[in-house]
Amino acid sequence: MTDTITLAPSLLAGKQDALGESLKLAESAKVKWLHLDIMDGHFVPNISFGPKALTDLRAQSELYFDVHLMLSNPDAHIESFINAGADSITIHCEPNYPIEDTLSLIRARGIKSGIALNPETDIEAILPYLRFVDLVLVMTVNPGFGGQSFIPSCLEKVSQLKNLKENENYNYKIEVDGGVTLENAAECLQSGADILVCGTAFYKSRNPQQFHQDILDIKLG
Ligand code: DX5
Ligand code: ZN
Repeated sequence: MTDTITLAPSLLAGKQDALGESLKLAESAKVKWLHLDIMDGHFVPNISFGPKALTDLRAQSELYFDVHLMLSNPDAHIESFINAGADSITIHCEPNYPIEDTLSLIRARGIKSGIALNPETDIEAILPYLRFVDLVLVMTVNPGFGGQSFIPSCLEKVSQLKNLKENENYNYKIEVDGGVTLENAAECLQSGADILVCGTAFYKSRNPQQFHQDILDIKLG
């Protein structure tokens, strides 16, 4: 089990015509992280926001900006998201681009790097990167949209990643992303997740501050 639980609200479920307001709502719930989903309409079917939105949000917040790039060519966009104020950048292992070089570039620029994998991708695909990433993001829905149902079988990969981390002395944190709710959060944490991304469950909750507290209060057996 993890020592500290981090809740990362996903701004994708916030008000797209008032992202700053949704960021402030996350701050008022006393979270430390904000998850920013960047989609290109190619690697995933949907399009979200870009680096200018981050720059403007960065100017009004000190939250940790956890940037999740769902792009076919993430290597072409690293600089702009670093300049916009990302604290970590997570890239997917599925598209065809120089993954190791891109992770090295992220790290060389002094921010944290992460590798993400889709529900149908086995952990073999990310094994070469585990020794030097800060974060592994396990998708628990097919990426592209908020508000989808959690796919429980993905937690098997979380357990595998936790075991690998312990056995090999790796340093990454494990993040689960997609369909996470108060109902399945305990299961995610029990499997080995350190960071829970919650879009819909957080932004649609009646009391986001209480939602955060309820996540922190989860007791694991
Ligand atoms: C999906 C995104 C997720 C998503 C989470 O492609 O990566 O971060 O916004 O939203 P919920 O919690 O609504 O599934
Ligand atoms: Zn995400």
